[in-house]
Amino acid sequence: MNNGLPRPVTAVVIVAAGSGERLGYGMPKARVPLGSDTILTHALRGVAAAGVARQICVALPPGDTALQELCGSFEAELRAGNPEAQIPLLTTVDGGATRAASVRSALGALLDGTEAVLVHDAARALAPEAVFHRVVDSLAAGAVAVIPAVPVVDTVKTVTRTSGDDTVIAPELVTGTAPREELRSVQTPQGFRLSTLLQAHQAAEGFGDKQAAAVTDDAMLVELLGVPVHAVHGSTQSLKITTPLDLIIAEGLLEGPLGIRWVEG
Ligand code: CTP
Ligand code: MG
Repeated sequence: MNNGLPRPVTAVVIVAAGSGERLGYGMPKARVPLGSDTILTHALRGVAAAGVARQICVALPPGDTALQELCGSFEAELRAGNPEAQIPLLTTVDGGATRAASVRSALGALLDGTEAVLVHDAARALAPEAVFHRVVDSLAAGAVAVIPAVPVVDTVKTVTRTSGDDTVIAPELVTGTAPREELRSVQTPQGFRLSTLLQAHQAAEGFGDKQAAAVTDDAMLVELLGVPVHAVHGSTQSLKITTPLDLIIAEGLLEGPLGIRWVEG
């Protein structure tokens, strides 16, 4: 589990400030029930169980007292079950209008002396501990940026909208087939040297609306700096709960014969 190298002082940022439009529950996704808890509680349990964080900083929808209280009760649950020394500091911040803005808000609240940060989507509530360890081990081994990734199972094609007479044939025209062996679906937690991620996010603050909307993960911003981004094996268990079907799959994982926190691959 641990490659034996000294690990950096690490904080985990959980971004949980999204509205959960696509899930369609009419409430922030972090509050949506999953099994007998909420999506955010599962995410917090996973991060705490991994035991890699000195601090966990959660970006919440601004003014969401229900989620602030949930974080408070989670900290009490942690305290009840562990010696004081092993409990990470749990802080909350108001998230922003975009995921990147929520990350920036949390980065501003990290403890002095933090060397590395893992940014994790609350929506990937069932990410197994082993993935957190692979990411932190890679940072310990010298990576500046490292992401968990899994091979793509579908054949992936590029398309454009059809134009002229072709619009009656079909709405899109295939322009190519991407080489699948080189493609990966990427997940969280994504790990970074803190100074590098801060630099990447500072650069992104000046983005226009279109460019900002195209930013879907933190590694993209680090890639723009020209810093190498490494990849470790992720897990299908780290699925991002985005649509109702994803929630059904996550419920199925919790109810299955292996129960929560079975570790795949
Ligand atoms: N997120 C965030 N702040 C935002 C937008 C998203 O902290 N302004 C977080 C979400 O809470 C989630 C993660 O980023 O944990 C990935 O985002 P996504 O799956 O898109 O969640 P939502 O934005 O909540 O969902 P939707 O896009 O369907 O509204
Ligand atoms: Mg979103």
